[in-house]
Amino acid sequence: MPYKPSPPSNHRTFSFLLLLFLLFSAANAAGDKKRQRFKEAPKFYNSPNCPTLPPNDDISNSTCSNDSDADNNDDDVSVVHVAMTLDAAYLRGSMAAILSVLQHSSCPENIRFHFVASSAADRDSLRSTLSGSFPYLKFQIYPFDAAAVAGLISTSIRAALDCPLNYARNYLADTLPACVRRVVYLDSDLVLVDDIAKLAATPLPNGAVLAAPEYCNANFTSYFTPTFWSNPSLSLTFAGRRACYFNTGVMVMDLARWRVGAYTEKIVDWMELQKRIRIYELGSLPPFLLVFAGNIAPVDHRWNQHGLGGDNFRGLCRDLHPGPVSLLHWSGKGKPWARLDANRPCPLDALWAPYDLLQTLFVLES
Ligand SMILES: *[C@@H]1O[C@H](CO)[C@@H](O)[C@H](O)[C@H]1NC(C)=O
Ligand SMILES: *[C@@H]1O[C@H](CO)[C@@H](O)[C@H](O)[C@H]1NC(C)=O
Ligand SMILES: *[C@@H]1O[C@H](CO)[C@@H](O)[C@H](O)[C@H]1NC(C)=O
Repeated sequence: MPYKPSPPSNHRTFSFLLLLFLLFSAANAAGDKKRQRFKEAPKFYNSPNCPTLPPNDDISNSTCSNDSDADNNDDDVSVVHVAMTLDAAYLRGSMAAILSVLQHSSCPENIRFHFVASSAADRDSLRSTLSGSFPYLKFQIYPFDAAAVAGLISTSIRAALDCPLNYARNYLADTLPACVRRVVYLDSDLVLVDDIAKLAATPLPNGAVLAAPEYCNANFTSYFTPTFWSNPSLSLTFAGRRACYFNTGVMVMDLARWRVGAYTEKIVDWMELQKRIRIYELGSLPPFLLVFAGNIAPVDHRWNQHGLGGDNFRGLCRDLHPGPVSLLHWSGKGKPWARLDANRPCPLDALWAPYDLLQTLFVLES
């Protein structure tokens, strides 16, 4: 049948219906976000040779066992402490990351999760979502005063990097209980395919405060502005340091040393300078480089197969870096859950999908 343009009177009706439809879709999309439901994960049990923990080891009332005494910071990892941020936008990623940590751990019952959520977040709802999927998870949720940090953040080239919660990793030493000495910090857009205890046991020799995979072939110069490099009083901060790029999405942190060295203040000092002079373009990463690059303990690259999110501007698919894989990290613009939902996944997104706990129920609701 040939197409006939509608008469003008119908056109107005059509516009009105279209508007109604758009409003309805928008309301529904917002509702879907709130109603994200997650499946229950299986219970994961310790293998027989796992160290037994004191029965009073209970982070839910802010006590924790003395899991490693102050002088032996290296390999005593009877308890593995993991810190992550938690927010509605990345919850699906966080849930997948938690599942992957438990599933590949030989002592999953000895893992303690420390979640940082913005103080405005509905922490009761986050708590019940977590407990719903992981009834046996030992975790604590801490409020993070995003407003206090927001004033310190200068706008970066990627809006997502400006989210105050991205800066929560600067404050872990103050946020977590003092008895937590060593913590593994993990971003929400990653999955582990290896035992986190191995990562947590990374040696931190010579007083190192943190360990992360380093990338000395990356062009370190490009992380800071010409203003920074042309000002000797600033650029001399790297004098005598073999400074290499590292990604802050996977770090082993010695919080006791961090507290003693007041590293939070050192990072904040650089952030305050950045408010006055633009010394870098990206968000939370450069202050970490300024304070720590060249002085960190190395971690094998297998623990951060990064960049799987793809190109920052065009969202292109990326391949794995050569070598073994213990952790897959979808850093970059694209996230696997968004691409899977949009039916435009990258090939490696298939490796994230098995950890997705989101319940896919297609129920028509009115
Ligand atoms: C907190 O932990 C201690 C042991 O460390 C225990 O005696 C106490 O009953 C716990 N309190 C609550 C409220 O669970
Ligand atoms: C943990 O260490 C602190 C200080 O070193 C000590 O006072 C406390 O009794 C220890 N707690 C346990 C349960 O061993
Ligand atoms: C590194 O980056 C800087 C600034 O972006 C640039 O000027 C320089 O040419 C780059 N060096 C190499 C070896 O690519």
